[in-house]
Amino acid sequence: AAPVPGETRLEGRTVLVTAGGTREPLDPVRYIGNRSSGRQGVALAEAARDRGASVTLVAAHLEVPVPTGVEVVRAETAAELLAVVTDLSPRHDLTIMAAAVSDYRPVAVSDAKIKKANTGERLTLELVQNPDILASISAEPRHGRLIVGFAAETAGDDAELLALGRAKVARKGCDFLVLNAVGWNAGFVSERNTVVVLDGAGDRVLEASGTKMSVADDILGVFAAALAASPS
Ligand code: CTP
Ligand code: CA
Repeated sequence: AAPVPGETRLEGRTVLVTAGGTREPLDPVRYIGNRSSGRQGVALAEAARDRGASVTLVAAHLEVPVPTGVEVVRAETAAELLAVVTDLSPRHDLTIMAAAVSDYRPVAVSDAKIKKANTGERLTLELVQNPDILASISAEPRHGRLIVGFAAETAGDDAELLALGRAKVARKGCDFLVLNAVGWNAGFVSERNTVVVLDGAGDRVLEASGTKMSVADDILGVFAAALAASPS
Protein backbone atom coordinates (compact mmCIF):
# COMPACT_ATOMS: atom_id res chain seq x y z
CA ALA A 1 0.00 0.00 0.00
CA ALA A 2 1.10 3.57 -0.56
CA PRO A 3 2.65 5.08 2.57
CA VAL A 4 0.40 7.44 4.51
CA PRO A 5 2.12 10.83 4.23
CA GLY A 6 1.48 11.96 7.81
CA GLU A 7 2.90 8.74 9.18
CA THR A 8 6.01 8.54 7.06
CA ARG A 9 9.16 8.66 9.15
CA LEU A 10 12.56 9.80 7.89
CA GLU A 11 14.81 7.53 9.96
CA GLY A 12 18.09 6.89 8.15
CA ARG A 13 17.46 9.78 5.74
CA THR A 14 19.57 12.89 5.32
CA VAL A 15 17.82 16.22 4.78
CA LEU A 16 19.38 19.54 3.75
CA VAL A 17 17.30 22.67 4.32
CA THR A 18 18.28 26.21 3.36
CA ALA A 19 16.50 28.96 5.27
CA GLY A 20 16.40 32.72 5.71
CA GLY A 21 17.31 35.59 3.46
CA THR A 22 20.68 36.17 1.84
CA ARG A 23 22.45 39.50 2.29
CA GLU A 24 24.55 40.94 -0.51
CA PRO A 25 27.12 43.44 0.80
CA LEU A 26 27.50 46.90 -0.72
CA ASP A 27 30.21 48.03 1.67
CA PRO A 28 31.34 47.01 5.20
CA VAL A 29 28.13 48.32 6.81
CA ARG A 30 25.38 47.90 4.16
CA TYR A 31 23.73 45.13 2.25
CA ILE A 32 20.81 44.31 -0.04
CA GLY A 33 18.48 41.93 1.76
CA ASN A 34 14.88 40.77 1.90
CA ARG A 35 12.10 40.23 4.42
CA SER A 36 12.42 36.46 4.80
CA SER A 37 12.32 35.47 8.49
CA GLY A 38 13.51 31.90 7.95
CA ARG A 39 10.57 30.61 10.00
CA GLN A 40 9.23 28.21 7.39
CA GLY A 41 12.68 26.78 6.62
CA VAL A 42 13.54 26.38 10.31
CA ALA A 43 10.16 24.69 10.86
CA LEU A 44 10.99 22.26 8.04
CA ALA A 45 14.35 21.44 9.62
CA GLU A 46 12.63 20.80 12.97
CA ALA A 47 9.87 18.71 11.41
CA ALA A 48 12.44 16.60 9.52
CA ARG A 49 14.45 16.13 12.73
CA ASP A 50 11.28 15.09 14.55
CA ARG A 51 10.60 12.50 11.84
CA GLY A 52 13.99 10.97 12.59
CA ALA A 53 16.09 12.48 9.78
CA SER A 54 19.69 13.63 10.10
CA VAL A 55 19.28 17.32 9.25
CA THR A 56 21.67 20.01 8.03
CA LEU A 57 20.34 23.56 8.12
CA VAL A 58 22.08 26.03 5.84
CA ALA A 59 21.25 29.31 7.49
CA ALA A 60 21.29 32.65 5.70
CA HIS A 61 20.02 35.58 7.78
CA LEU A 62 17.41 34.27 10.25
CA GLU A 63 15.00 36.24 12.43
CA VAL A 64 14.42 33.13 14.55
CA PRO A 65 16.79 30.98 16.64
CA VAL A 66 18.40 27.92 15.06
CA PRO A 67 16.86 24.67 16.28
CA THR A 68 18.65 22.13 18.44
CA GLY A 69 19.46 18.69 17.11
CA VAL A 70 20.40 19.82 13.61
CA GLU A 71 23.77 20.66 12.12
CA VAL A 72 23.99 24.34 11.19
CA VAL A 73 26.14 25.79 8.41
CA ARG A 74 26.10 29.57 7.88
CA ALA A 75 25.87 31.16 4.42
CA GLU A 76 25.44 34.90 4.17
CA THR A 77 25.39 35.59 0.44
CA ALA A 78 24.00 33.78 -2.61
CA ALA A 79 27.57 32.90 -3.64
CA GLU A 80 28.27 31.30 -0.23
CA LEU A 81 24.95 29.47 -0.37
CA LEU A 82 25.78 28.16 -3.85
CA ALA A 83 29.14 26.83 -2.65
CA VAL A 84 27.67 25.11 0.44
CA VAL A 85 24.64 23.64 -1.33
CA THR A 86 26.63 22.43 -4.34
CA ASP A 87 28.92 20.60 -1.92
CA LEU A 88 26.29 19.19 0.45
CA SER A 89 23.22 18.52 -1.71
CA PRO A 90 24.64 15.41 -3.45
CA ARG A 91 25.15 13.86 0.02
CA HIS A 92 21.54 14.40 1.15
CA ASP A 93 18.45 12.38 0.21
CA LEU A 94 16.28 15.48 0.28
CA THR A 95 17.29 19.09 -0.41
CA ILE A 96 14.77 21.81 0.38
CA MET A 97 15.59 25.29 -0.91
CA ALA A 98 13.48 27.39 1.43
CA ALA A 99 15.99 30.26 1.53
CA ALA A 100 15.09 33.56 -0.08
CA VAL A 101 18.06 34.01 -2.37
CA SER A 102 18.81 37.49 -3.65
CA ASP A 103 18.41 37.52 -7.43
CA TYR A 104 21.09 40.21 -7.77
CA ARG A 105 24.21 41.42 -6.02
CA PRO A 106 26.12 44.67 -6.35
CA VAL A 107 28.62 44.54 -9.23
CA ALA A 108 31.30 45.84 -6.87
CA VAL A 109 31.67 45.68 -3.10
CA SER A 110 33.37 48.77 -1.72
CA ASP A 111 36.08 48.18 0.91
CA ALA A 112 35.37 51.63 2.34
CA LYS A 113 32.02 52.84 3.59
CA ILE A 114 30.30 54.54 0.65
CA LYS A 115 30.01 58.29 1.31
CA LYS A 116 27.01 60.41 0.44
CA ALA A 117 27.86 62.11 -2.85
CA ASN A 118 27.36 65.83 -3.32
CA THR A 119 26.69 65.42 -7.01
CA GLY A 120 22.89 65.25 -6.88
CA GLU A 121 19.93 63.60 -5.16
CA ARG A 122 20.02 60.24 -6.93
CA LEU A 123 22.29 57.25 -6.63
CA THR A 124 22.31 54.42 -9.16
CA LEU A 125 23.49 50.98 -8.01
CA GLU A 126 24.66 48.52 -10.60
CA LEU A 127 23.65 44.93 -9.89
CA VAL A 128 24.49 41.61 -11.52
CA GLN A 129 22.42 38.41 -11.43
CA ASN A 130 23.31 35.72 -8.92
CA PRO A 131 23.57 32.09 -10.07
CA ASP A 132 20.37 30.07 -9.75
CA ILE A 133 21.25 27.48 -7.09
CA LEU A 134 18.04 25.46 -7.38
CA ALA A 135 18.25 25.20 -11.18
CA SER A 136 21.92 24.30 -10.95
CA ILE A 137 21.51 21.40 -8.47
CA SER A 138 18.35 20.23 -10.27
CA ALA A 139 20.34 19.88 -13.51
CA GLU A 140 22.69 17.28 -11.92
CA PRO A 141 21.94 13.53 -11.92
CA ARG A 142 19.63 12.74 -9.00
CA HIS A 143 20.05 9.00 -8.24
CA GLY A 144 16.78 8.91 -6.30
CA ARG A 145 17.49 12.07 -4.34
CA LEU A 146 14.77 14.73 -4.19
CA ILE A 147 15.08 18.48 -4.71
CA VAL A 148 12.40 20.89 -3.58
CA GLY A 149 12.02 24.58 -4.39
CA PHE A 150 9.96 27.28 -2.74
CA ALA A 151 8.22 30.17 -4.45
CA ALA A 152 6.61 33.14 -2.79
CA GLU A 153 4.52 35.01 -5.33
CA THR A 154 2.39 38.15 -5.25
CA ALA A 155 -0.42 36.78 -7.42
CA GLY A 156 -3.83 38.38 -7.98
CA ASP A 157 -5.71 35.10 -7.53
CA ASP A 158 -5.28 31.31 -7.20
CA ALA A 159 -5.26 30.68 -10.96
CA GLU A 160 -2.45 33.20 -11.45
CA LEU A 161 -0.54 31.71 -8.50
CA LEU A 162 -0.78 28.21 -10.00
CA ALA A 163 0.24 29.42 -13.46
CA LEU A 164 3.31 31.15 -12.00
CA GLY A 165 4.14 27.98 -10.03
CA ARG A 166 3.80 25.68 -13.03
CA ALA A 167 6.05 27.85 -15.14
CA LYS A 168 8.59 28.03 -12.32
CA VAL A 169 8.75 24.28 -11.58
CA ALA A 170 9.30 23.64 -15.31
CA ARG A 171 12.04 26.28 -15.50
CA LYS A 172 13.84 25.04 -12.38
CA GLY A 173 13.61 21.30 -13.05
CA CYS A 174 13.05 20.44 -9.36
CA ASP A 175 10.93 17.51 -8.12
CA PHE A 176 8.49 19.63 -6.09
CA LEU A 177 7.70 23.31 -5.69
CA VAL A 178 6.08 24.72 -2.56
CA LEU A 179 4.07 27.78 -3.55
CA ASN A 180 2.70 30.47 -1.35
CA ALA A 181 1.11 33.85 -1.85
CA VAL A 182 2.80 36.79 -0.18
CA GLY A 183 1.97 40.46 0.13
CA TRP A 184 3.18 43.33 2.23
CA ASN A 185 1.76 41.70 5.36
CA ALA A 186 1.37 38.00 4.56
CA GLY A 187 3.89 35.20 4.47
CA PHE A 188 7.26 36.50 5.61
CA VAL A 189 6.76 37.65 9.18
CA SER A 190 3.66 35.59 9.88
CA GLU A 191 3.50 32.57 12.20
CA ARG A 192 0.98 30.97 9.85
CA ASN A 193 1.15 29.98 6.23
CA THR A 194 -0.91 28.53 3.40
CA VAL A 195 0.91 26.63 0.68
CA VAL A 196 0.22 24.57 -2.41
CA VAL A 197 2.70 21.85 -3.36
CA LEU A 198 3.23 21.12 -7.06
CA ASP A 199 5.09 18.08 -8.37
CA GLY A 200 7.68 18.23 -11.14
CA ALA A 201 4.93 18.04 -13.77
CA GLY A 202 3.19 21.06 -12.26
CA ASP A 203 0.33 19.03 -10.80
CA ARG A 204 -1.05 20.06 -7.44
CA VAL A 205 -0.29 17.33 -4.89
CA LEU A 206 -1.12 19.03 -1.57
CA GLU A 207 -2.62 22.12 -0.07
CA ALA A 208 -1.73 22.87 3.55
CA SER A 209 -2.68 25.66 5.89
CA GLY A 210 -1.87 26.38 9.53
CA THR A 211 1.13 27.23 11.65
CA LYS A 212 4.47 27.09 9.86
CA MET A 213 5.26 23.97 11.95
CA SER A 214 2.11 22.10 10.92
CA VAL A 215 2.54 23.17 7.29
CA ALA A 216 6.16 21.99 7.45
CA ASP A 217 5.13 18.58 8.74
CA ASP A 218 2.33 18.22 6.16
CA ILE A 219 4.57 19.00 3.21
CA LEU A 220 7.39 16.81 4.58
CA GLY A 221 4.90 13.96 4.51
CA VAL A 222 4.71 14.33 0.72
CA PHE A 223 8.50 14.24 0.31
CA ALA A 224 8.92 11.35 2.76
CA ALA A 225 6.36 9.32 0.81
CA ALA A 226 8.08 10.16 -2.47
CA LEU A 227 11.46 9.09 -1.03
CA ALA A 228 9.94 5.86 0.26
CA ALA A 229 8.55 5.18 -3.23
CA SER A 230 11.78 5.99 -5.11
CA PRO A 231 14.38 3.24 -5.74
CA SER A 232 17.36 5.13 -4.14
N1 CTP B 1 16.62 30.23 -5.88
C1 CTP B 1 17.93 29.80 -6.01
N2 CTP B 1 18.87 30.65 -6.51
C2 CTP B 1 18.55 31.90 -6.89
C3 CTP B 1 17.20 32.34 -6.77
C4 CTP B 1 16.27 31.47 -6.26
O1 CTP B 1 18.22 28.65 -5.69
N3 CTP B 1 19.49 32.69 -7.38
C5 CTP B 1 15.63 29.26 -5.37
C6 CTP B 1 14.91 29.71 -4.10
O2 CTP B 1 15.59 29.24 -2.96
C7 CTP B 1 13.56 29.02 -4.26
C8 CTP B 1 13.36 28.95 -5.77
O3 CTP B 1 14.65 29.13 -6.35
O4 CTP B 1 13.60 27.69 -3.78
C9 CTP B 1 12.41 29.94 -6.34
O5 CTP B 1 12.85 31.23 -6.03
P1 CTP B 1 12.17 32.44 -6.76
O6 CTP B 1 12.77 33.71 -6.29
O7 CTP B 1 10.69 32.29 -6.64
O8 CTP B 1 12.55 32.13 -8.29
P2 CTP B 1 13.29 32.99 -9.38
O9 CTP B 1 13.76 32.03 -10.41
O10 CTP B 1 14.31 33.87 -8.75
O11 CTP B 1 12.12 33.84 -10.04
P3 CTP B 1 11.52 35.29 -9.70
O12 CTP B 1 11.78 36.09 -10.91
O13 CTP B 1 10.05 35.03 -9.47
O14 CTP B 1 12.19 35.84 -8.46
CA1 CA C 1 13.92 35.40 -7.08
